[in-house]
Amino acid sequence: MTELITQLEAIVGSANVLNPEQVAQRAKHFWDPSPMVALALVRPVDTNEVSQVLKICSEHKQPVVTHGGVTGLVDGEKSNHKEIILSLERMQSIESIDPVNRTMTVQAGCVLQTVHEAATDAGLFYGLDLGARGSCTIGGNISTNAGGLSVLRYGMTREQILGLEVVLADGTILSSLNKMIKNNAGYDLKQLFIGSEGTLGVVTRAVLRLRPDTPTCNTAIVAFDNFDQVTATLDHITRTLNTNLNAFEILWNDFYHLSTNPDINGSTRAPLANDSFAYAIIEARGANEASDQQLFIQAMEAAIENALIADAVIAKSESERAEIWNIRENVDLTLRHQPLFIYDISLPINHMQTYLDEVRSTLQKDWPEVIVYAYGHLADNNLHVTIAPQPKNYINDPQQQPVKIQAFNDTQRVWYEQCNKTVFEPLAKLGGSISAEHGIGLLKKQYLKYSRTPEEIRVMQLLKKSLDPHNLLNPGKVC
Ligand code: LAC
Ligand code: ZN
Repeated sequence: MTELITQLEAIVGSANVLNPEQVAQRAKHFWDPSPMVALALVRPVDTNEVSQVLKICSEHKQPVVTHGGVTGLVDGEKSNHKEIILSLERMQSIESIDPVNRTMTVQAGCVLQTVHEAATDAGLFYGLDLGARGSCTIGGNISTNAGGLSVLRYGMTREQILGLEVVLADGTILSSLNKMIKNNAGYDLKQLFIGSEGTLGVVTRAVLRLRPDTPTCNTAIVAFDNFDQVTATLDHITRTLNTNLNAFEILWNDFYHLSTNPDINGSTRAPLANDSFAYAIIEARGANEASDQQLFIQAMEAAIENALIADAVIAKSESERAEIWNIRENVDLTLRHQPLFIYDISLPINHMQTYLDEVRSTLQKDWPEVIVYAYGHLADNNLHVTIAPQPKNYINDPQQQPVKIQAFNDTQRVWYEQCNKTVFEPLAKLGGSISAEHGIGLLKKQYLKYSRTPEEIRVMQLLKKSLDPHNLLNPGKVC
């Protein structure tokens, strides 16, 4: 073992191989301050070092868990005391921006927000955005095929990636830093690694596709009386705002209520009364100051006139816009429930309401007080459902201390499994998925069968075996 550590130190320098005590100084997860666990944490500075590290680990049959911003929600980043963490935190460079071809080449440890800022400075735009933007990394986004808030316009991470450089388990560098939108020369190998959650290779660099900047921004929050209004408004807004539509985020009443409750969260105002059936945040971005605003206001007025929405508030300043988004981004308020079961499902939009009603009524049989918070990226078929079986156990903290997820006790683990069945089982017959965007990791591995056939799972396992025959990269995750 010391031989392995000595060899790793020779590659990255001893300051960049942290021992278990140093690793334990770090928080395990963005939402969990308990100590991180590993045999060592290695911090390479470039692709060559990653390659040498993986080659040595492969020779020692040493398992490796790769870390980006540790903001994932399915235990994909979880490590044990026999595993080495490969952290890409020293690989944060933006290597180049090509304004003619609209690309940016970055190292995988680059933080998403840094990419946004660099794109904007160059008069361009990067189309992926999510709540964890200040911590999550491009490598993490790629390995989980992250989705987020603008998928309805720009697609998921997969659609933002033109080129990829990956290091395989044996240290082989697979460099395909393609910059073109079209390239059909054989298999598109990068697709294998996007969304494979660090199990098939380690992403080291990427060529990102940039878009034209969209300097105008119009944002509203609207209220609905029923679900038919939600789908009718989505249809109306999509037709009217067309490609300018950047976000359509739904919040059912329980979530809006929690997020704007002054007793819980004194800093967030409720722009609309909190007794509506559901709410949506609608945002459009474009490049024509005068006509974009006019089109947006007309679209909202028409929605009210045609009784598609019950009420609406349009942001008149950047601070009003931020207040509206704050309501949506207060998701950590739900984490003050102990226990809390977090889901990230997708299903056809027309089935969403009956599905939620069914899940709620099944859960009420066991937990009469249960709260089912539902919110998310409705236009992408993606609902975030978080379930608090015992809502009275709410940790009210007006000071907004950082959230601390607590491990389940034995009873809660049984509840979680019971709840998983209630949430996942109906999805198969609706053609839904147990994970819309967060992935499988460890947490959902045993439920993969609800969304994938045995044949699909066998091919996933075959791929894993071919690319990582000794099962060293993020072992035990996904399939
Ligand atoms: C969100 C995370 C939970 O959309 O995916 O808030
Ligand atoms: Zn989400």
